[in-house]
Amino acid sequence: MNQNYTNCSNREKCLALYRDSLRSKEMDHDGTHFDQQIPHVFVILGASGDLARKKIYPTLWWLYRDNLLPTNTIFYGYARSKTVIKEIRLKCHQYMKVKDEEEERYEEFWKLNFYYAGSYDSRTDFEKFNQELSHHERNPFGNRIFYLALPPSVFESCTVHIKNACMAPKGWTRIIIEKPFGKDSASSQKLSDHLASLFTEQQIYRIDHYLGKEMVQNLMTLRFGNRIFNPCWNRDNIASVQVSFKEPFGTQGRGGYFDEFGIIRDIMQNHLLQILTLAAMEKPTSCLPDDIRNEKVKVLRCIQEVDLNDVVLGQYVGNPEGEGEAKLSYLDDPTVPEGSLTATYAMAVLRINNERWDGVPFILKCGKALNERKAEVRIQFRDVPGDIFDGKPKRNELVIRVQPGEALYVKMMVKTPGMAFDMEETELDLTYSSRYENVKLPDAYERLILDVFCGSQMHFVRSDELSEAWRIFTPLLHKIEQERIVPVPYK
Ligand SMILES: NC(=O)c1ccc[n+]([C@@H]2O[C@H](COP(=O)([O-])OP(=O)(O)OC[C@H]3O[C@@H](n4cnc5c(N)ncnc54)[C@H](OP(=O)(O)O)[C@@H]3O)[C@@H](O)[C@H]2O)c1
Repeated sequence: MNQNYTNCSNREKCLALYRDSLRSKEMDHDGTHFDQQIPHVFVILGASGDLARKKIYPTLWWLYRDNLLPTNTIFYGYARSKTVIKEIRLKCHQYMKVKDEEEERYEEFWKLNFYYAGSYDSRTDFEKFNQELSHHERNPFGNRIFYLALPPSVFESCTVHIKNACMAPKGWTRIIIEKPFGKDSASSQKLSDHLASLFTEQQIYRIDHYLGKEMVQNLMTLRFGNRIFNPCWNRDNIASVQVSFKEPFGTQGRGGYFDEFGIIRDIMQNHLLQILTLAAMEKPTSCLPDDIRNEKVKVLRCIQEVDLNDVVLGQYVGNPEGEGEAKLSYLDDPTVPEGSLTATYAMAVLRINNERWDGVPFILKCGKALNERKAEVRIQFRDVPGDIFDGKPKRNELVIRVQPGEALYVKMMVKTPGMAFDMEETELDLTYSSRYENVKLPDAYERLILDVFCGSQMHFVRSDELSEAWRIFTPLLHKIEQERIVPVPYK
């Protein structure tokens, strides 16, 4: 299918193209595909929680509003709270972005929503829940998706009960889980073994929402669909690769969870490492999900464990001259334990020991309470050999901006316009908002949830990838904790 999104003259045309592509042959994955007519139940476990309210319900509403879900989909919330769907609706409302003209559709969406109050460790509750689900499944076919929007402490009991009491009797069952996937190699392996004892890898969807972002998904096309980049994508031409993430705010009173994990576990070991992997892997034999994931695992296996000498850790402190929240330190957050040494900023150099990348530093940087919101990949090329311009040329850089404002630009030298024979640095700029002016780019969660409906695991983390990611970071994390490494304060 050759769809030209550049010519999308409005949002509706764009959505029609998305609907077509969901049903296209390219979305068939190892025998699974988008079952437009088959009934689906989408279950949100932890429906009363923060993630459900801020992300999952809004995403489901947007997908429903845009007619992107299979026709007969209903939504079930499950949690311990004795609440009703009306209350959940109220709590979600501020995140749903409903326009006046969408009110009718919005009502329809909530009519398809139900709630069941039950505990996470009672088989009886799950059995009763299963009966309730069955009442809605009169059709000879029916698929179920379970989204675990729950604290990890209840993952195990919940998944056991899903397996024993709630598997779809007339179709497939898929389980979506959210990070943290453990805290180190051992705890992650324990969780992986537990899940593997209940479900096949094809049933498990580990979300890393960075893999749902447009520019992260673009890395493959950019590298393997362009002759100009691929031949120079190696140690002979590239001096360094930087992957960075910056957030302009601190923990905002929600530091309790963060303090247990820290910035390396929260951002670097998963989101940044996933981006690095896509930037560094070899060309897969095809675009099939497992061919891609095989290459990701291969490159991860070439990465040495991170050495503490290659790491900088920081913790933000209040800036007396700053405004509002900027005046507050990480330690001023009342939910953060007194004297915590948890890093809110980290920079680490990773080295890939293979023929393509030997000697090229991959620099990962991430932090909270920084000057701006930004996530990008920066490929810095080497100096031009045999320079004839008295050292004036600056190194080329290819920048892939993931957020905000998706963009791709190459920093390059040109002759300064006019009579003078001088040079200056400029950019070949592909900013998506101008090039694809009317194109609606799906949000990461929208894409990933649709992928689950389609059965595409391309943008989800496989257990062997996860285990390699923990191998790379676990010795460092243990050392930081055991030696109580003090982070550098930064404003
Ligand atoms: N919030 C985010 O933006 C975000 C982002 C990325 C990943 N995640 C991950 O997504 C999952 C859910 O996050 P969340 O922020 O939505 O969590 P949450 O609000 O703390 O918890 C979700 C629900 O789980 C139940 N719950 C809370 N603590 C519990 C406990 N100790 N024992 C049993 N049940 C408990 C509560 O429902 P009931 O009391 O009604 O049962 C709560 O409404 C977590 O694994 C988190 O790490 C969250």
